[in-house]
Amino acid sequence: MSSVVIVGTQWGDEGKGKITDYLAERSDIVMRYQGGSNAGHTVEVDGKQYKLHLVPSGILYPDKQCLIGHGVVLDPEELLQEIEMLVSQGVDVSNLRISDRAHLVFPYHKLLDGLEEDKKGANDIGTTRKGIGPAYMDKSERIGIRVCDLMNEDVFRDKLKANLQKKNEILTKIYGKEPFDADEMIDRYLGYGRQLSCYVADTTVIVYQALKADKNVLFEGAQGTLLDIDIGTYPYVTSSHPIAGGVCVGAGIGPTMIHKVVGVAKSYTTRVGKGPFPTELFDEIGQSIREKGREYGTTTGRPRRCGWFDAVIVSFSVRVNGITDLAITKLDTLAGLETVKICTAYRRGSEIIENFPASLEFLSECEPVYEELPGWDKSIEKARTYDELPVNAIRYIERIEELCGARVSILSVGPAREQTIIR
Ligand code: IMP
Repeated sequence: MSSVVIVGTQWGDEGKGKITDYLAERSDIVMRYQGGSNAGHTVEVDGKQYKLHLVPSGILYPDKQCLIGHGVVLDPEELLQEIEMLVSQGVDVSNLRISDRAHLVFPYHKLLDGLEEDKKGANDIGTTRKGIGPAYMDKSERIGIRVCDLMNEDVFRDKLKANLQKKNEILTKIYGKEPFDADEMIDRYLGYGRQLSCYVADTTVIVYQALKADKNVLFEGAQGTLLDIDIGTYPYVTSSHPIAGGVCVGAGIGPTMIHKVVGVAKSYTTRVGKGPFPTELFDEIGQSIREKGREYGTTTGRPRRCGWFDAVIVSFSVRVNGITDLAITKLDTLAGLETVKICTAYRRGSEIIENFPASLEFLSECEPVYEELPGWDKSIEKARTYDELPVNAIRYIERIEELCGARVSILSVGPAREQTIIR
């Protein structure tokens, strides 16, 4: 048996969709274990672009089973739209299964997500407003409604009525909004339930049996390590566990069943939403990376903040995820720059910081310590082997390996499947 976890090592948007798609070819099962429709994975196959939010990227291979584990918060409306989009493009989705334990996202979660953000004003988190935080809050409060509840009309009706009473009180009394109509929402969701019932399963059984039968399983992380609720740049994080350990909780397997952890890192750093970002670039280099790298959010369309590669962050990710291999993406975006910089440590006053700090106030006082390396002007989009890369690009990769303490096994030099170099 072989199980591989794919995690983002930065603030998400590292290009995990493409790496998942690539590794999915060698897998029997691809499984999502956390997050929800806040995620956005862009995969390009035969010149066609697919933007996926909830469905695992493995869906683009007809023979792969795709699972959405119970750690995911599931918006049934968005999932059905995604299924419809895939079917209309000729993709077979019959191999998709969703966990009966997954918690559901409701319209009040999305509305409250936005209202809470607006109330925070300048101190907002910059969420995707997809209801992720409020849905995980209900789960922790033990009032969440799960897929298995949706499969039982009476149970669902009772639970939704009870929840809606409470949510409507918050919406009307605190925010002065109109209440949601319980009957309308119940009927609508029961309709979604009927459409989704053919996909519902106990995914913990499927994944366990597959691993026991020596099949290959790929766990597809969404977001990134610095967005993890425990490990990340709290409070500017998402409400789930994008780290490798999140697989055990969100997919329902034991830690002994994980064999490899592939950390995906962009050859530079990006971030959407608020919060400190030590290597952020505010000059024309940052702007050119944004344009060349098409750094605009898949889910929200927001321009991403761009900066140099931060080895303090990626070495932290290597440590907390137990990363065995790194996949470096978008190396082509940096081509054409005279020099490239890597942040090797932070400076705070006279102190040198090598370990990523917990406190954001502390982090905002840190200045990056850079190492400057010669750039490469040759376009590298056509390179298919490591040796075909310009010598300075190789130097850059090998310096990243040294600083981060993990081997770079995969390199991506463009969005297409074939623009991937395996070392
Ligand atoms: P939420 O997950 O919508 O609650 O947003 C919390 C934080 O995570 C915000 O800074 C978002 O921009 C960020 N975030 C959520 N999903 C993604 C993603 O897929 N890529 C990058 N950032 C994300």
